[in-house]
Amino acid sequence: MMQSIVAVRDWVDARVPIMKMWNEHLAEYYAPKNFNFWYYFGSLALLVLVIQFLSGIWLTMHYKPSAEHAFASVEYIMRDVPWGYLIRYLHSTGASAFFVVVYLHMFRGLLYGSYKAPRELIWLIGMGIYMLLMAEAFMGYLLPWGQMSFWGAQVIISLFGALPFGIGEALSLWIRGDYVVSDATLNRFFALHVVLLPVLLLGLIVAHIVALHEVGSNNPDGVEIKKNKDTNDIPKDGIRFHPYYTVKDLYGASVFLLIFSAVVFFAPEFGGWFLEKDNFVPADPLKTPEHIVPLWYFTPFYAILRAIPHKLTGVLAMGLSIAMLFVLPWLDRHPIKSFRYRSALYRGALYVFALVFVVLGWLGTQPATVVYSELGLRLAELYFMFFIVLVMYSKDRGADTHFIVFIVLLASMMFADVIRFDAQKGWLMFFSAIIPLAYMVVFILGPIFTRMNESRVVPERVT
Ligand code: HEM
Repeated sequence: MMQSIVAVRDWVDARVPIMKMWNEHLAEYYAPKNFNFWYYFGSLALLVLVIQFLSGIWLTMHYKPSAEHAFASVEYIMRDVPWGYLIRYLHSTGASAFFVVVYLHMFRGLLYGSYKAPRELIWLIGMGIYMLLMAEAFMGYLLPWGQMSFWGAQVIISLFGALPFGIGEALSLWIRGDYVVSDATLNRFFALHVVLLPVLLLGLIVAHIVALHEVGSNNPDGVEIKKNKDTNDIPKDGIRFHPYYTVKDLYGASVFLLIFSAVVFFAPEFGGWFLEKDNFVPADPLKTPEHIVPLWYFTPFYAILRAIPHKLTGVLAMGLSIAMLFVLPWLDRHPIKSFRYRSALYRGALYVFALVFVVLGWLGTQPATVVYSELGLRLAELYFMFFIVLVMYSKDRGADTHFIVFIVLLASMMFADVIRFDAQKGWLMFFSAIIPLAYMVVFILGPIFTRMNESRVVPERVT
Protein backbone atom coordinates (compact mmCIF):
# COMPACT_ATOMS: atom_id res chain seq x y z
CA MET A 1 0.00 0.00 0.00
CA MET A 2 2.67 2.45 1.16
CA GLN A 3 4.81 1.53 -1.85
CA SER A 4 2.04 2.32 -4.32
CA ILE A 5 1.35 5.68 -2.63
CA VAL A 6 5.05 6.54 -2.97
CA ALA A 7 5.00 5.36 -6.61
CA VAL A 8 2.00 7.59 -7.39
CA ARG A 9 3.67 10.51 -5.61
CA ASP A 10 6.87 10.04 -7.62
CA TRP A 11 4.88 9.70 -10.85
CA VAL A 12 3.07 12.99 -10.18
CA ASP A 13 6.25 14.66 -8.98
CA ALA A 14 8.10 13.81 -12.16
CA ARG A 15 5.42 15.81 -14.02
CA VAL A 16 4.39 18.51 -11.53
CA PRO A 17 6.98 19.25 -8.82
CA ILE A 18 4.60 19.18 -5.85
CA MET A 19 7.15 17.69 -3.43
CA LYS A 20 9.75 20.21 -4.55
CA MET A 21 7.32 23.04 -3.76
CA TRP A 22 6.38 21.45 -0.44
CA ASN A 23 10.05 21.23 0.51
CA GLU A 24 10.98 24.70 -0.70
CA HIS A 25 8.07 26.53 0.89
CA LEU A 26 7.28 24.44 3.98
CA ALA A 27 9.44 21.49 5.02
CA GLU A 28 12.80 22.99 4.17
CA TYR A 29 11.89 26.64 4.47
CA TYR A 30 13.95 27.86 7.39
CA ALA A 31 12.23 30.59 9.37
CA PRO A 32 13.72 32.51 12.31
CA LYS A 33 13.19 30.65 15.57
CA ASN A 34 11.95 33.71 17.47
CA PHE A 35 8.58 34.37 15.80
CA ASN A 36 6.06 35.70 18.32
CA PHE A 37 2.37 36.63 18.57
CA TRP A 38 2.65 39.19 15.76
CA TYR A 39 3.65 36.48 13.29
CA TYR A 40 0.23 34.79 13.41
CA PHE A 41 -1.54 37.27 11.19
CA GLY A 42 -0.10 36.39 7.77
CA SER A 43 -1.36 32.83 8.00
CA LEU A 44 -4.63 34.05 9.54
CA ALA A 45 -5.11 36.37 6.54
CA LEU A 46 -4.77 33.28 4.33
CA LEU A 47 -7.36 31.48 6.45
CA VAL A 48 -9.83 34.37 6.17
CA LEU A 49 -9.23 34.42 2.42
CA VAL A 50 -10.36 30.79 2.23
CA ILE A 51 -13.43 31.55 4.40
CA GLN A 52 -14.33 34.46 2.10
CA PHE A 53 -13.88 32.42 -1.08
CA LEU A 54 -15.98 29.51 0.17
CA SER A 55 -18.80 31.53 1.75
CA GLY A 56 -18.76 33.88 -1.27
CA ILE A 57 -19.21 31.04 -3.75
CA TRP A 58 -22.22 29.74 -1.82
CA LEU A 59 -23.74 33.21 -1.51
CA THR A 60 -23.41 33.69 -5.27
CA MET A 61 -25.53 30.58 -5.82
CA HIS A 62 -28.56 32.33 -4.32
CA TYR A 63 -27.89 36.04 -4.75
CA LYS A 64 -29.50 38.07 -7.61
CA PRO A 65 -27.38 40.96 -8.90
CA SER A 66 -30.16 43.34 -9.92
CA ALA A 67 -31.51 46.48 -8.28
CA GLU A 68 -34.96 44.93 -8.30
CA HIS A 69 -34.11 41.62 -6.65
CA ALA A 70 -30.82 42.04 -4.77
CA PHE A 71 -32.22 43.07 -1.38
CA ALA A 72 -34.95 40.42 -1.45
CA SER A 73 -32.48 37.73 -2.52
CA VAL A 74 -30.32 38.50 0.53
CA GLU A 75 -33.41 38.26 2.77
CA TYR A 76 -34.22 34.96 1.06
CA ILE A 77 -30.70 33.71 1.85
CA MET A 78 -31.16 34.76 5.48
CA ARG A 79 -34.60 33.22 5.97
CA ASP A 80 -35.20 30.42 3.48
CA VAL A 81 -31.94 28.99 2.20
CA PRO A 82 -30.81 26.13 4.48
CA TRP A 83 -27.84 27.45 6.50
CA GLY A 84 -28.10 30.64 4.43
CA TYR A 85 -27.92 32.90 7.49
CA LEU A 86 -24.67 31.20 8.48
CA ILE A 87 -23.12 31.57 5.04
CA ARG A 88 -23.98 35.25 4.97
CA TYR A 89 -22.73 35.97 8.48
CA LEU A 90 -19.52 34.05 7.77
CA HIS A 91 -18.97 36.32 4.77
CA SER A 92 -19.92 39.61 6.45
CA THR A 93 -17.93 38.84 9.61
CA GLY A 94 -15.10 37.54 7.41
CA ALA A 95 -14.86 40.94 5.70
CA SER A 96 -14.24 42.71 9.01
CA ALA A 97 -11.98 39.91 10.27
CA PHE A 98 -9.90 40.33 7.11
CA PHE A 99 -9.21 43.95 7.97
CA VAL A 100 -8.57 43.18 11.65
CA VAL A 101 -5.87 40.64 10.78
CA VAL A 102 -4.44 42.71 7.91
CA TYR A 103 -4.15 45.85 10.07
CA LEU A 104 -2.37 43.83 12.79
CA HIS A 105 -0.18 42.23 10.10
CA MET A 106 0.77 45.67 8.78
CA PHE A 107 1.43 46.98 12.27
CA ARG A 108 3.83 44.07 12.81
CA GLY A 109 5.66 45.33 9.70
CA LEU A 110 6.01 48.72 11.38
CA LEU A 111 7.12 47.27 14.71
CA TYR A 112 9.88 45.14 13.24
CA GLY A 113 10.79 47.21 10.18
CA SER A 114 9.78 44.37 7.87
CA TYR A 115 9.28 46.86 5.02
CA LYS A 116 13.00 47.68 4.93
CA ALA A 117 15.60 46.27 2.54
CA PRO A 118 15.56 43.57 1.28
CA ARG A 119 11.77 43.32 1.83
CA GLU A 120 10.57 46.51 0.13
CA LEU A 121 8.77 44.56 -2.59
CA ILE A 122 6.98 42.34 -0.07
CA TRP A 123 5.67 45.53 1.51
CA LEU A 124 4.76 47.12 -1.84
CA ILE A 125 2.91 44.00 -2.97
CA GLY A 126 1.23 43.98 0.46
CA MET A 127 0.06 47.54 -0.13
CA GLY A 128 -1.30 46.45 -3.52
CA ILE A 129 -3.20 43.68 -1.71
CA TYR A 130 -4.51 46.22 0.79
CA MET A 131 -5.81 48.47 -2.02
CA LEU A 132 -7.51 45.52 -3.72
CA LEU A 133 -8.99 44.45 -0.41
CA MET A 134 -10.49 47.90 0.10
CA ALA A 135 -11.93 47.87 -3.44
CA GLU A 136 -13.27 44.36 -2.88
CA ALA A 137 -14.96 45.35 0.41
CA PHE A 138 -16.38 48.55 -1.06
CA MET A 139 -17.91 46.78 -4.05
CA GLY A 140 -19.20 43.89 -1.94
CA TYR A 141 -20.96 46.34 0.34
CA LEU A 142 -23.13 47.62 -2.52
CA LEU A 143 -24.45 44.16 -3.30
CA PRO A 144 -27.13 43.78 -0.53
CA TRP A 145 -28.63 47.00 -1.98
CA GLY A 146 -29.58 48.39 1.42
CA GLN A 147 -29.74 52.07 2.31
CA MET A 148 -26.11 52.26 3.41
CA SER A 149 -24.94 50.22 0.39
CA PHE A 150 -26.56 52.73 -1.92
CA TRP A 151 -25.69 55.97 -0.16
CA GLY A 152 -22.19 54.88 0.84
CA ALA A 153 -21.42 54.08 -2.81
CA GLN A 154 -22.99 57.38 -3.87
CA VAL A 155 -20.73 59.36 -1.50
CA ILE A 156 -17.52 57.48 -2.25
CA ILE A 157 -17.97 57.55 -6.03
CA SER A 158 -18.80 61.25 -5.91
CA LEU A 159 -15.37 61.84 -4.31
CA PHE A 160 -13.85 61.15 -7.71
CA GLY A 161 -16.06 64.00 -8.96
CA ALA A 162 -13.84 66.42 -7.01
CA LEU A 163 -11.01 65.95 -9.54
CA PRO A 164 -10.68 69.07 -11.71
CA PHE A 165 -10.93 69.76 -15.50
CA GLY A 166 -14.03 67.62 -15.95
CA ILE A 167 -11.94 64.50 -15.27
CA GLY A 168 -13.78 63.84 -12.01
CA GLU A 169 -17.24 64.00 -13.56
CA ALA A 170 -16.25 61.72 -16.42
CA LEU A 171 -14.58 59.29 -14.04
CA SER A 172 -17.52 58.96 -11.66
CA LEU A 173 -19.88 58.54 -14.61
CA TRP A 174 -17.62 55.80 -15.95
CA ILE A 175 -17.48 54.01 -12.58
CA ARG A 176 -21.26 54.16 -12.05
CA GLY A 177 -22.17 53.45 -15.68
CA ASP A 178 -25.04 55.87 -15.09
CA TYR A 179 -25.74 59.35 -13.75
CA VAL A 180 -26.64 57.88 -10.36
CA VAL A 181 -25.82 54.63 -8.58
CA SER A 182 -28.14 52.21 -10.34
CA ASP A 183 -28.73 48.71 -11.64
CA ALA A 184 -25.80 49.18 -14.04
CA THR A 185 -23.49 50.00 -11.09
CA LEU A 186 -24.72 47.01 -9.12
CA ASN A 187 -24.10 44.70 -12.07
CA ARG A 188 -20.56 45.80 -12.72
CA PHE A 189 -19.68 45.83 -9.02
CA PHE A 190 -20.95 42.26 -8.82
CA ALA A 191 -18.75 41.21 -11.75
CA LEU A 192 -15.71 42.91 -10.27
CA HIS A 193 -16.39 41.64 -6.74
CA VAL A 194 -16.80 37.98 -7.67
CA VAL A 195 -14.42 37.61 -10.61
CA LEU A 196 -11.80 40.23 -11.36
CA LEU A 197 -10.75 41.43 -7.90
CA PRO A 198 -10.52 37.96 -6.28
CA VAL A 199 -8.35 36.76 -9.17
CA LEU A 200 -6.05 39.78 -8.86
CA LEU A 201 -5.99 39.38 -5.08
CA LEU A 202 -4.98 35.76 -5.34
CA GLY A 203 -2.26 36.62 -7.87
CA LEU A 204 -0.81 39.29 -5.59
CA ILE A 205 -0.95 37.03 -2.53
CA VAL A 206 1.03 34.35 -4.41
CA ALA A 207 3.56 37.03 -5.45
CA HIS A 208 3.69 38.24 -1.81
CA ILE A 209 4.63 34.82 -0.51
CA VAL A 210 7.04 34.02 -3.35
CA ALA A 211 8.80 37.34 -2.66
CA LEU A 212 8.91 36.54 1.06
CA HIS A 213 10.41 33.12 0.50
CA GLU A 214 13.01 34.56 -1.85
CA VAL A 215 14.52 36.90 0.76
CA GLY A 216 13.39 35.07 3.93
CA SER A 217 11.33 36.26 6.88
CA ASN A 218 12.29 39.11 9.13
CA ASN A 219 11.80 38.60 12.90
CA PRO A 220 11.26 40.50 16.16
CA ASP A 221 14.99 41.20 16.49
CA GLY A 222 15.35 42.37 12.90
CA VAL A 223 18.41 40.13 12.50
CA GLU A 224 19.04 38.60 9.04
CA ILE A 225 19.30 34.89 9.83
CA LYS A 226 20.77 34.10 6.39
CA LYS A 227 23.95 35.91 7.38
CA ASN A 228 24.76 33.24 9.95
CA LYS A 229 24.76 29.76 8.40
CA ASP A 230 26.24 26.42 9.49
CA THR A 231 28.36 24.11 7.33
CA ASN A 232 25.21 22.61 5.76
CA ASP A 233 24.16 26.05 4.55
CA ILE A 234 21.33 26.15 7.13
CA PRO A 235 20.73 29.37 9.10
CA LYS A 236 21.85 28.79 12.70
CA ASP A 237 18.88 30.81 13.99
CA GLY A 238 16.39 29.10 11.70
CA ILE A 239 13.97 26.21 12.22
CA ARG A 240 12.03 24.25 9.61
CA PHE A 241 8.67 25.79 8.92
CA HIS A 242 7.11 22.35 9.07
CA PRO A 243 6.34 21.05 11.66
CA TYR A 244 7.33 23.92 13.99
CA TYR A 245 5.41 26.80 12.48
CA THR A 246 2.64 24.73 10.92
CA VAL A 247 1.82 23.66 14.49
CA LYS A 248 2.14 27.21 15.82
CA ASP A 249 -0.09 28.53 13.02
CA LEU A 250 -2.65 25.76 13.64
CA TYR A 251 -2.84 26.86 17.27
CA GLY A 252 -3.31 30.48 16.13
CA ALA A 253 -5.99 29.40 13.66
CA SER A 254 -7.85 27.51 16.42
CA VAL A 255 -7.93 30.50 18.75
CA PHE A 256 -8.91 32.77 15.86
CA LEU A 257 -11.75 30.43 14.83
CA LEU A 258 -13.07 30.36 18.40
CA ILE A 259 -13.31 34.15 18.50
CA PHE A 260 -14.58 34.31 14.93
CA SER A 261 -17.36 31.77 15.60
CA ALA A 262 -18.37 33.58 18.77
CA VAL A 263 -18.93 36.72 16.68
CA VAL A 264 -20.67 34.87 13.84
CA PHE A 265 -23.09 33.08 16.19
CA PHE A 266 -23.64 35.61 18.96
CA ALA A 267 -22.94 39.08 17.59
CA PRO A 268 -22.77 39.08 13.77
CA GLU A 269 -23.78 42.74 13.53
CA PHE A 270 -21.23 43.55 16.24
CA GLY A 271 -23.21 46.50 17.51
CA GLY A 272 -23.49 48.00 14.02
CA TRP A 273 -19.71 47.89 13.38
CA PHE A 274 -19.80 44.88 11.04
CA LEU A 275 -23.35 45.28 9.64
CA GLU A 276 -25.04 48.65 9.91
CA LYS A 277 -28.66 48.88 10.89
CA ASP A 278 -29.52 51.15 7.94
CA ASN A 279 -28.51 48.33 5.65
CA PHE A 280 -31.48 46.24 6.77
CA VAL A 281 -33.65 48.81 4.94
CA PRO A 282 -33.91 48.49 1.12
CA ALA A 283 -32.07 51.16 -0.91
CA ASP A 284 -34.20 54.24 -1.49
CA PRO A 285 -32.73 56.84 -3.87
CA LEU A 286 -35.23 59.42 -2.57
CA LYS A 287 -34.41 59.12 1.11
CA THR A 288 -30.93 59.95 2.45
CA PRO A 289 -30.00 58.26 5.76
CA GLU A 290 -29.22 60.64 8.63
CA HIS A 291 -25.52 59.71 8.87
CA ILE A 292 -23.74 58.17 5.93
CA VAL A 293 -20.66 56.40 7.28
CA PRO A 294 -18.50 53.75 5.69
CA LEU A 295 -17.66 50.60 7.64
CA TRP A 296 -14.97 50.89 10.35
CA TYR A 297 -12.02 49.80 8.21
CA PHE A 298 -12.33 52.84 5.95
CA THR A 299 -13.01 55.38 8.66
CA PRO A 300 -9.45 56.51 9.52
CA PHE A 301 -9.05 57.72 5.94
CA TYR A 302 -12.64 58.98 5.81
CA ALA A 303 -11.91 61.09 8.94
CA ILE A 304 -8.92 62.68 7.17
CA LEU A 305 -11.09 63.42 4.14
CA ARG A 306 -13.84 65.00 6.23
CA ALA A 307 -11.46 66.99 8.42
CA ILE A 308 -10.45 69.23 5.55
CA PRO A 309 -13.09 71.79 4.60
CA HIS A 310 -12.07 72.00 0.92
CA LYS A 311 -13.33 68.93 -0.98
CA LEU A 312 -10.49 68.50 -3.50
CA THR A 313 -7.82 69.11 -0.83
CA GLY A 314 -9.60 66.57 1.39
CA VAL A 315 -9.58 63.97 -1.38
CA LEU A 316 -5.90 64.68 -2.09
CA ALA A 317 -5.01 64.43 1.63
CA MET A 318 -6.81 61.11 1.85
CA GLY A 319 -4.93 59.83 -1.20
CA LEU A 320 -1.66 61.10 0.25
CA SER A 321 -2.30 59.40 3.59
CA ILE A 322 -2.37 56.05 1.76
CA ALA A 323 0.46 56.98 -0.61
CA MET A 324 2.70 57.62 2.42
CA LEU A 325 2.35 53.98 3.41
CA PHE A 326 3.41 52.90 -0.08
CA VAL A 327 6.68 54.83 0.09
CA LEU A 328 7.42 53.96 3.71
CA PRO A 329 10.51 51.83 2.86
CA TRP A 330 12.08 54.89 1.25
CA LEU A 331 11.09 57.35 3.98
CA ASP A 332 12.54 55.37 6.86
CA ARG A 333 16.19 54.72 5.97
CA HIS A 334 17.35 53.98 9.51
CA PRO A 335 19.65 50.91 9.52
CA ILE A 336 17.97 49.34 12.58
CA LYS A 337 14.84 47.39 11.76
CA SER A 338 13.16 46.31 14.97
CA PHE A 339 11.57 48.85 17.29
CA ARG A 340 13.15 46.89 20.16
CA TYR A 341 16.51 48.46 19.40
CA ARG A 342 15.41 51.79 18.04
CA SER A 343 15.33 54.98 20.08
CA ALA A 344 12.70 55.84 22.69
CA LEU A 345 11.75 58.68 20.40
CA TYR A 346 11.02 56.42 17.46
CA ARG A 347 9.01 54.05 19.64
CA GLY A 348 7.03 56.97 21.07
CA ALA A 349 6.27 58.26 17.57
CA LEU A 350 5.15 54.78 16.48
CA TYR A 351 2.78 54.34 19.44
CA VAL A 352 1.32 57.80 18.88
CA PHE A 353 0.84 56.98 15.19
CA ALA A 354 -1.06 53.78 16.04
CA LEU A 355 -3.22 55.65 18.56
CA VAL A 356 -3.91 58.46 16.07
CA PHE A 357 -4.98 55.89 13.47
CA VAL A 358 -7.43 54.27 15.91
CA VAL A 359 -8.87 57.58 17.14
CA LEU A 360 -9.23 58.82 13.55
CA GLY A 361 -11.08 55.58 12.83
CA TRP A 362 -13.46 56.26 15.70
CA LEU A 363 -13.95 59.91 14.69
CA GLY A 364 -14.82 58.77 11.17
CA THR A 365 -17.81 56.89 12.56
CA GLN A 366 -19.12 59.89 14.50
CA PRO A 367 -21.27 62.76 13.23
CA ALA A 368 -19.08 65.61 11.89
CA THR A 369 -19.66 68.08 14.73
CA VAL A 370 -17.47 71.18 15.00
CA VAL A 371 -15.37 69.70 17.82
CA TYR A 372 -14.93 66.31 16.16
CA SER A 373 -13.99 67.89 12.82
CA GLU A 374 -11.40 70.08 14.50
CA LEU A 375 -9.96 67.13 16.42
CA GLY A 376 -9.95 65.12 13.16
CA LEU A 377 -7.90 67.82 11.48
CA ARG A 378 -5.35 68.00 14.28
CA LEU A 379 -4.98 64.22 14.32
CA ALA A 380 -4.62 64.22 10.53
CA GLU A 381 -1.72 66.63 11.04
CA LEU A 382 -0.13 64.18 13.49
CA TYR A 383 -0.68 61.33 11.02
CA PHE A 384 1.42 63.11 8.39
CA MET A 385 4.02 64.31 10.89
CA PHE A 386 4.87 60.72 11.75
CA PHE A 387 6.34 60.32 8.28
CA ILE A 388 8.31 63.55 8.63
CA VAL A 389 9.71 62.26 11.94
CA LEU A 390 10.73 59.05 10.17
CA VAL A 391 12.63 60.97 7.51
CA MET A 392 14.28 63.10 10.20
CA TYR A 393 15.57 60.12 12.17
CA SER A 394 16.78 58.07 9.27
CA LYS A 395 20.09 59.88 9.63
CA ASP A 396 21.78 61.95 12.31
CA ARG A 397 20.90 65.50 11.42
CA GLY A 398 22.26 68.54 13.20
CA ALA A 399 20.30 70.80 15.54
CA ASP A 400 19.98 73.37 12.72
CA THR A 401 18.01 70.97 10.55
CA HIS A 402 15.70 70.17 13.44
CA PHE A 403 15.04 73.86 14.04
CA ILE A 404 14.42 74.56 10.36
CA VAL A 405 12.00 71.64 10.04
CA PHE A 406 10.23 72.81 13.21
CA ILE A 407 9.84 76.35 11.84
CA VAL A 408 8.67 75.15 8.41
CA LEU A 409 6.09 72.83 9.97
CA LEU A 410 4.86 75.53 12.33
CA ALA A 411 4.58 78.05 9.50
CA SER A 412 2.65 75.61 7.27
CA MET A 413 0.29 74.78 10.10
CA MET A 414 -0.35 78.45 10.82
CA PHE A 415 -0.80 79.19 7.13
CA ALA A 416 -3.43 76.41 6.86
CA ASP A 417 -5.16 77.77 9.98
CA VAL A 418 -5.28 81.30 8.56
CA ILE A 419 -6.83 80.02 5.31
CA ARG A 420 -9.52 78.04 7.10
CA PHE A 421 -10.03 80.60 9.86
CA ASP A 422 -13.58 80.75 11.11
CA ALA A 423 -14.32 83.33 13.82
CA GLN A 424 -17.01 81.12 15.34
CA LYS A 425 -14.51 78.44 16.27
CA GLY A 426 -11.49 80.70 16.74
CA TRP A 427 -10.84 79.55 20.34
CA LEU A 428 -11.30 75.93 19.42
CA MET A 429 -8.74 76.27 16.64
CA PHE A 430 -6.36 78.02 18.99
CA PHE A 431 -6.55 75.41 21.76
CA SER A 432 -6.54 72.41 19.46
CA ALA A 433 -3.29 73.71 17.91
CA ILE A 434 -1.64 72.61 21.17
CA ILE A 435 -1.88 68.98 19.97
CA PRO A 436 0.40 69.27 16.89
CA LEU A 437 2.55 71.86 18.64
CA ALA A 438 3.28 69.52 21.56
CA TYR A 439 4.02 66.74 19.07
CA MET A 440 6.52 68.89 17.21
CA VAL A 441 8.22 70.05 20.39
CA VAL A 442 8.68 66.46 21.59
CA PHE A 443 9.48 64.71 18.34
CA ILE A 444 11.25 67.39 16.27
CA LEU A 445 12.94 69.55 18.91
CA GLY A 446 13.21 66.83 21.59
CA PRO A 447 16.44 65.18 20.37
CA ILE A 448 18.30 68.51 20.38
CA PHE A 449 17.92 68.76 24.13
CA THR A 450 17.68 65.13 25.24
CA ARG A 451 19.25 61.77 24.44
CA MET A 452 15.92 60.23 23.54
CA ASN A 453 17.07 59.51 19.99
CA GLU A 454 19.79 57.09 20.97
CA SER A 455 19.39 53.57 19.60
CA ARG A 456 20.36 50.39 21.42
CA VAL A 457 22.85 47.78 20.30
CA VAL A 458 21.37 45.19 17.95
CA PRO A 459 22.42 41.62 18.85
CA GLU A 460 24.32 39.56 16.24
CA ARG A 461 22.01 36.58 16.65
CA VAL A 462 18.28 36.36 17.43
CA THR A 463 17.41 36.37 21.13
C1 HEM B 1 -4.66 39.09 2.08
C2 HEM B 1 -3.73 39.77 2.68
C3 HEM B 1 -2.38 39.22 3.06
C4 HEM B 1 -1.96 37.92 3.18
C5 HEM B 1 -2.77 36.64 2.95
C6 HEM B 1 -0.58 37.96 3.60
C7 HEM B 1 0.18 36.84 3.85
C8 HEM B 1 1.43 36.86 4.40
C9 HEM B 1 2.12 35.72 4.93
C10 HEM B 1 1.55 34.28 4.99
C11 HEM B 1 3.33 36.15 5.40
C12 HEM B 1 4.38 35.29 6.11
C13 HEM B 1 3.95 35.04 7.54
C14 HEM B 1 4.05 36.27 8.40
O1 HEM B 1 5.08 36.95 8.33
O2 HEM B 1 3.07 36.57 9.13
C15 HEM B 1 3.42 37.57 5.14
C16 HEM B 1 4.52 38.37 5.42
C17 HEM B 1 4.59 39.74 5.19
N1 HEM B 1 3.54 40.55 4.77
FE1 HEM B 1 1.71 39.93 4.23
N2 HEM B 1 -0.18 39.27 3.70
C18 HEM B 1 -1.25 40.07 3.38
C19 HEM B 1 -1.28 41.46 3.38
C20 HEM B 1 -0.19 42.27 3.64
C21 HEM B 1 -0.22 43.70 3.66
C22 HEM B 1 -1.47 44.54 3.42
C23 HEM B 1 1.06 44.12 3.94
C24 HEM B 1 1.60 45.53 4.06
C25 HEM B 1 1.23 46.52 3.37
C26 HEM B 1 1.89 42.96 4.10
C27 HEM B 1 3.24 42.96 4.39
C28 HEM B 1 4.00 41.85 4.72
C29 HEM B 1 5.40 41.89 5.10
C30 HEM B 1 6.31 43.13 5.16
C31 HEM B 1 5.77 40.56 5.39
C32 HEM B 1 7.16 40.07 5.85
C33 HEM B 1 7.10 40.12 7.36
C34 HEM B 1 8.35 39.65 8.04
O3 HEM B 1 9.07 38.82 7.51
O4 HEM B 1 8.56 40.18 9.18
N3 HEM B 1 1.09 41.85 3.92
N4 HEM B 1 2.26 37.98 4.54
